[in-house]
Amino acid sequence: MKTIKLIFLGPPGAGKGTQAVNLAVQWETLHISSGDMLRESIKNKEPLGLKAKNYMLKGELVPDNIVISMVMEKISSNTNNKGFVLDGFPRTSNQAKKLDTVMADEGIILDAVVYFETSEETVLRRLSGRRVCRNCGANYHLTNMLPKIAGVCDKCKGPLYHREDDKPEAIRKRLEVYKNKTTPLLSYYKKSGLLKTINGDLEVQEAFEEIKNKVTGAWCSGAWCSGFLKDDTC
Ligand code: AP5
Repeated sequence: MKTIKLIFLGPPGAGKGTQAVNLAVQWETLHISSGDMLRESIKNKEPLGLKAKNYMLKGELVPDNIVISMVMEKISSNTNNKGFVLDGFPRTSNQAKKLDTVMADEGIILDAVVYFETSEETVLRRLSGRRVCRNCGANYHLTNMLPKIAGVCDKCKGPLYHREDDKPEAIRKRLEVYKNKTTPLLSYYKKSGLLKTINGDLEVQEAFEEIKNKVTGAWCSGAWCSGFLKDDTC
């Protein structure tokens, strides 16, 4: 059976997490979010989380040595035979090179790097209105993805909160860090022919369709797709 292995790249608030969850549900892939893993570690008061916390609150990147080993362990222990979506990793050239080395060692081949090209205006609107479930991490938005009951998660009834790093000063810092440290990865993956750009300003369903078309279009035209994607594109 065909597996799918993707990286989602883009600024904070571009919708990477939202689309990774959608794809994980539809294609049964593993969603590996470095941000979610770090937040879980903080919630559980683990040593790794305690080291990461202050960087995250300020909107800075957590040092490579902490993040790389955490994500690599997850990839290496992955038993999901339908692949994975890496969301928020890699974010520095060092992380990208390390990922290449580990994947080459383990015989893992990436299918695509999906770049969510998103305007700053969209990013600011989305992050300032985002609310997150304290229990299960589900994302909502005050204007376009409202929970059924205000302040309460639809999925687990947990309380919703405003992420500390979604406040104006930390957002500014995250955007600056993204420009300086993460945008060089665009040319890195362009050179390897893996980069597929989608319009991150689109609404959720439209962006989802664009990802499916760009990432899977070539496969589904071939007979070997064998219905893997289980939707109308097959
Ligand atoms: P992380 O949690 O990864 O944050 P991020 O990359 O900044 O991404 P976001 O979660 O803010 O945005 P997203 O693109 O996933 O958007 P989402 O779908 O949620 O990282 C947090 C911190 O952890 C970092 O700052 C760093 O400190 C540390 N860290 C993580 N990985 C690291 C690494 N590799 N190296 C070092 N440090 C690391 O959507 C946002 C909002 O918009 C939601 O409310 C959603 O409902 C809404 N929305 C989404 N899509 C749409 C749409 N199409 N239309 C309308 N609304 C939408």
